Amino acid sequence: MVIQHRYKSPSGKVQQAQQLENLYAKCPLFRARNPSILSSRQRLPPRWKPANCRKYTLPSANVKCRACADSRFSSTSPSKHSHKPNNEENFLSERTMLQIHGGKRLEGEVKVSGAKNAALAIQAGCLLCEQPMVLHNVPDLVDVANMGEVLQSVGASVERDGHDSNSLVLNCSELTSSSPSLESVVKLRASFLVIGPLLARNGETSVPLPGGCAIGARPVNLHIRGLEALGAKVEVKDGVVHATVGPEGTLRGSRVYLEYPSVGATETVIMAAVVAEGETVIENVAQEPEIVDLANFLVSVGARIRGAGTKVITIQGVRSLHGGEYTVIPDRVEAGTLLVSAAITYSNLWLSSIVPAHLTSIVTKLEETGCQIKFKDDNRLELIPPPELLSTDIRTLPYPGFPTDMQAQFMALLTVAKGPSVVQETVFEGRMAHALELQQMGARLSVAESTAFLEGIQEDHGGLQGASVAGSDLRGTAALVLAGLAAEGITKVQGLQHLDRGYDKLDQKLRSIGASVERISMDNAKD
Ligand code: EPU
Repeated sequence: MVIQHRYKSPSGKVQQAQQLENLYAKCPLFRARNPSILSSRQRLPPRWKPANCRKYTLPSANVKCRACADSRFSSTSPSKHSHKPNNEENFLSERTMLQIHGGKRLEGEVKVSGAKNAALAIQAGCLLCEQPMVLHNVPDLVDVANMGEVLQSVGASVERDGHDSNSLVLNCSELTSSSPSLESVVKLRASFLVIGPLLARNGETSVPLPGGCAIGARPVNLHIRGLEALGAKVEVKDGVVHATVGPEGTLRGSRVYLEYPSVGATETVIMAAVVAEGETVIENVAQEPEIVDLANFLVSVGARIRGAGTKVITIQGVRSLHGGEYTVIPDRVEAGTLLVSAAITYSNLWLSSIVPAHLTSIVTKLEETGCQIKFKDDNRLELIPPPELLSTDIRTLPYPGFPTDMQAQFMALLTVAKGPSVVQETVFEGRMAHALELQQMGARLSVAESTAFLEGIQEDHGGLQGASVAGSDLRGTAALVLAGLAAEGITKVQGLQHLDRGYDKLDQKLRSIGASVERISMDNAKD
């Protein structure tokens, strides 16, 4: 049993807050629902009110957590379920929520921002550049800012361009450390991507393990094996991965086979191999557009890479990489999320700044629900909704399969489609927490392991109803926002610290096309 103590005005007792954090952080959703308890990393507000004293019973072994549906959250293994504290930048997001008046039709055009997951990998890749680099179309996200801090902690300078807020100016010419600081690394999982470039550039690095997160355990064994195949010596000790190059003082090109086409492991091996000696052939790589974007960026600064976007990537090592300018691809997941916002509200919507080829699986599934998608001018599209949304089945897979990052949003959509649908998650083992929140909004569904069975709209059952819900991960929170747009009445969505990590002003964009979405303080909110 976790006891959440009444905690009076802090008066500088940060240690006391840390103890509370350790207790309640065991379950992400519980944490999202009890935001008035602060972690030691957060600044305590001047007139902070004490939380209500309450007890929270952990489910017994093999029983799914009431809050997040993860069966690993048992009294026998609570540590597996723990989460890292959120950072200070997330403070405002944690203290606010979205209030959505559902049922409004949307109309207009939205410009899609740069891709989060491409920008993060490319930021890490900049550590290989011995001259300054300017990145364009970089989304304004907490994760991007946090990755900037990781780079700064090894001596890089990273700042937004004063004239163009979507551009990032990076100078990694003189690195002062080969090991990023722990406090910067723990803020985002993608920070682990610096291991390849730092090892290649400095010959050694120590990077803390990123740990599990709300969507699954997320090990890094494939990253490590890939580096070892290039001749690195890797040791994991006390939660830190220490890697050094062999006695020759450099990584050696080699054949690397990835057991699973992991996006992160593919990126790690590419970044390590571009300045290794000789040729590297990486087989069974991820083919995501973000991999191709990373490779295109590296080629633009002098790397020699072939085959990105296919199952085999071949790299000829070069001595060093220079600097330059590069423009990040548009975010296919943001595009998909906006498309679902239109479909779920039966609205016409135009999107600009898209790459049609990146959206094939998403567009195919939308067409199965009855939506029409018309492409125009190479980088625009229009969604025309059907008279009635139809059910369909979803199975997440590595690219070009249906993206796991769109599973939650489609689940929200299919709760209001006519008839039953099945949604199967195969990439991450714990990415179903949003299903329970959708149930709170009246969705009829059940979850078994990583498969959700949705009844959809039936004769005796209408659509979604507004409710107070909380997201526990990025895409799950987005799904709840989408459900709120379609629900009758008012929906309050907590978990904005997740949403702001990965969506560039989603609420503003939705407002610009007519949605009633407002960010309100939780202190003033009444249920
Ligand atoms: N895996 C291993 N060992 C490894 C690496 C991965 O077992 O060494 C497993 C993972 O546990 C998971 C599967 O392989 O079950 C896929 O993981 P992958 O490495 O492909 O994912 P990732 O690199 O950690 C990136 C995105 C995710 C996206 C996945 C899949 C970034 C920063 N993150 O994660 O994005 O879901 O690829 O496409 O690029 C998101 O944006 O919301 C997000 C989670």
